[in-house]
Amino acid sequence: MRVFVTGATGFIGSAIVQELLGAGHQVLGLARSEAAAQALAAAGAEAHPGSLEDLDSLRRGAAAAEGVIHAGFIHDFANFQASCETDRRAIETLGGVLAGSDRPLVVTAGLAGFALGRPSTEDDDNPGAAPRLSEPAALAQAAQGVRAMVLRLPPSVHGAGDYGFVPAIIGFARANGVAAYPGEGLNRWPAVHRLDAARLYRLVLEQGVAGARYHGVADEGVPMRDIAEVIGRHLHLPVASKSGQEAADHFTWLATFAANDVPASSALTRQRLGWQPTQPSLLEDLEQGSYFGG
Ligand SMILES: NC(=O)c1ccc[n+]([C@@H]2O[C@H](COP(=O)([O-])OP(=O)(O)OC[C@H]3O[C@@H](n4cnc5c(N)ncnc54)[C@H](OP(=O)(O)O)[C@@H]3O)[C@@H](O)[C@H]2O)c1
Repeated sequence: MRVFVTGATGFIGSAIVQELLGAGHQVLGLARSEAAAQALAAAGAEAHPGSLEDLDSLRRGAAAAEGVIHAGFIHDFANFQASCETDRRAIETLGGVLAGSDRPLVVTAGLAGFALGRPSTEDDDNPGAAPRLSEPAALAQAAQGVRAMVLRLPPSVHGAGDYGFVPAIIGFARANGVAAYPGEGLNRWPAVHRLDAARLYRLVLEQGVAGARYHGVADEGVPMRDIAEVIGRHLHLPVASKSGQEAADHFTWLATFAANDVPASSALTRQRLGWQPTQPSLLEDLEQGSYFGG
């Protein structure tokens, strides 16, 4: 299949490109710069010049493909609402091109926002995901007849090259001289290795059912205290609980998120697509030490 991939040069997207090429698909990757185009060519993919804001470029990319994976996102947390709007428009535009065909549209969404007190499942709605609009935008496309699927990712997609939330938590530990966890540290984050996530994107592309939600979850829920303990051990720092203002001071922009308890199951995804994670868990990945090099 010829697949148009947005975010093809990103942490997860670059793994998706490798996964698709390895399975015999062709990749047309959205590239917003010459450097991105060169990276795609070096990876064995074709570059499609454009950007998430340039809707014509998205239309052309989708029209030239037999399927679309949307893994691009503008991670500008100072203008998060605007990034979410751009994301929504991009999904609508991609869906508009695929409407009336069986060509798949795989849309990345998140598992943050659930407040169920139990592991969320693929069949649970996630009204707390706003302001991010990826999931409702994809489901709206499915309701209009597009073969659109949602792939929900956990807060930690880990592996070589990770510069997401776990590296941020390591940075806070270094800066403050303490590996902290919020409250009792029992709140849980699900996690997945980027290579396992990439394989799931391919399976959803190939087999996904319109309107379905899939969970890219290998670790159902890793307690924040366990994450802090590995960090403390590797950085030779004390491990401590932080609550209230102390937690806000320590985790700064990540404070609310760090306190989230968002365990998630992927039992239905595994059953429906035959997906089986094989890569190291988050704690194993942290134990291996590459997160503590610099
Ligand atoms: N990493 C995680 O732990 C994690 C967890 C949950 C959800 N997610 C979601 O998974 C998806 C992929 O994340 P990621 O970690 O791979 O992100 P990333 O490494 O930041 O990659 C973002 C991708 O989007 C592209 N991009 C950004 N702004 C663009 C624009 N204006 N026009 C065109 N392309 C643009 C980037 O292109 P350049 O290479 O040109 O910068 C890059 O290819 C996102 O939706 C993210 O929110 C990630």
